[in-house]
Amino acid sequence: MARRPIIAGNWKMHNNKAQAKELIDGIMYGVSQLDASKMPEVVVAPTYTALWQVYDLIKNEPKIALSAQNVNPNPSGAYTGEVSLDMLADFNVKFVIIGHSERRQMFGETDEFINQKAVAILEKGLIPIICCGETLEQREAGVTDAHLEEQITKALKGISADDVKKSVIAYEPIWAIGTGKSCDAVEANRTIGEIRKVVAKLYSADVADAIRILYGGSVKPSTIVEQMAQPEIDGGLIGGASLQADSFVDLIKGAM
Ligand code: 13P
Repeated sequence: MARRPIIAGNWKMHNNKAQAKELIDGIMYGVSQLDASKMPEVVVAPTYTALWQVYDLIKNEPKIALSAQNVNPNPSGAYTGEVSLDMLADFNVKFVIIGHSERRQMFGETDEFINQKAVAILEKGLIPIICCGETLEQREAGVTDAHLEEQITKALKGISADDVKKSVIAYEPIWAIGTGKSCDAVEANRTIGEIRKVVAKLYSADVADAIRILYGGSVKPSTIVEQMAQPEIDGGLIGGASLQADSFVDLIKGAM
């Protein structure tokens, strides 16, 4: 089955109002020049404070979809500083990034909390982009595949096969994030193939064939073509290179 590629820009904690406008204007101009029938699914994940503005600017641009960088799985209540799915749905948010290593490492998010988010996101009809990835120590110790199996198994707990088919996984080796040192494309392909086998073991070959699995970690215009040529890699989750319209549009072109 052909899986539609995704190029997703994770803006992380970057871009005030003016910067967000400049970036999305540049991306919109770039994608207006591209043939929609050949394009990957293009996703931008601004900060919460820029969501409304970006939503408003892209609302008539079907070539760009909106993602949030996080969500709280509870419907509402006394959760100071948090944002609910209902609030995200107001802005036509289609995807939500969960389980990013920055949230796991800096904000203590557990596999169980990430699973709660995945369940809530799918219940609301949005799509989780479930991040997983190993540290350098884990890779050097040869436990990468076992670690990813544990992260994926826990993240998908209690989720139906149909919902898993719609979901997205992003394999982001922690040592490759923001370091400029992208994982070798062949090795990223192998690792993503292992993640797909985990999904096949938990569900079926059919589900594993449907779920889209992205690679993230120092993806650049100079690496994307080789990465996209790998059969297991369904696209990229991109940090640094998504912050300039030119390079983000080059990444989109590299996935066409
Ligand atoms: P970089 O592309 O800056 O390495 O970031 C990757 C990432 O963490 C995307 O979520």
